[in-house]
Amino acid sequence: MSNLSAVEPPDNPARSNETGHQDHNLLELRGIRAAYERIDVLFGVDLVVPEASVVALLGPNGAGKTTTLRVAAGLHVPSAGDVLIAGRRVNGAKPEELARHGLCMIPEGRGIFPNLTVRENLRMMTYVGRSLAEIEEIAYSRFPRLAERRTQTAGTLSGGEQQMLAMARGMATEPALLILDELSMGLAPIIVAELYEMVAQVARSGVSILVVEQFASTVLGVADYAAIMVHGRIERAGRPDELAADLSKAYLGG
Ligand SMILES: Nc1ncnc2c1ncn2[C@@H]1O[C@H](COP(=O)(O)OP(=O)(O)OP(=O)(O)O)[C@@H](O)[C@H]1O
Ligand SMILES: [Mg+2]
Repeated sequence: MSNLSAVEPPDNPARSNETGHQDHNLLELRGIRAAYERIDVLFGVDLVVPEASVVALLGPNGAGKTTTLRVAAGLHVPSAGDVLIAGRRVNGAKPEELARHGLCMIPEGRGIFPNLTVRENLRMMTYVGRSLAEIEEIAYSRFPRLAERRTQTAGTLSGGEQQMLAMARGMATEPALLILDELSMGLAPIIVAELYEMVAQVARSGVSILVVEQFASTVLGVADYAAIMVHGRIERAGRPDELAADLSKAYLGG
């Protein structure tokens, strides 16, 4: 069962980096176990995000997807296992340290300030050392809709626009790895498709992406690799076209 438990490009020889060789995996989780209080929810998760790739983590409600992302971003301390960034163990690193290593997580609920305008939300990202003008340039070139809305309060943006603003704030950090949790939450399918077109553009510019979705169809069009998580374990991983049959089983509880 071991070969089912990791997302890995078939031609990637850098599976093990114990010897300190250059690693081509931006992020690697090895044997991650995690619990809330004393209740275990992850039971040995192995997952890799190779450089310049989009990895989709799929699975039903409660499977442990968000917990896995939180472990990767340093927001939840695992009870066992290793987190590696570019081959370096970063166990116990704080979210800010991981951000300096190029990791950016867009939190659930989007992490924007509803009472501030679009521009004010972007201005808050100037702490990364970039001017507001630069951050606005990055944001509006990727998400032109936000330019039209720059003086509108974020709470009155449409759900899709709020998600664009959240991604624009993340892009201000110029991440190497963008971690997205349920971009599609509460949004109409046509908006989700539009957002994933933007995600694909971000990916084409060289940013790796780890994205969680409960519903697979749209994200699989963008993903290089996918993993199906059920009950705190990766049940199956591979190229999207290899997983189509397994996906229906995972959702039917098979
Ligand atoms: N803060 C918490 N305290 C206690 N239990 C939690 C907490 N957060 C999550 N859990 C539990 O951990 C398990 C995994 O939750 P998680 O949020 O990682 O799942 P998920 O795959 O993201 O689900 P969803 O698709 O519904 O977002 C669930 O059983 C959940 O109830
Ligand atoms: Mg979740």
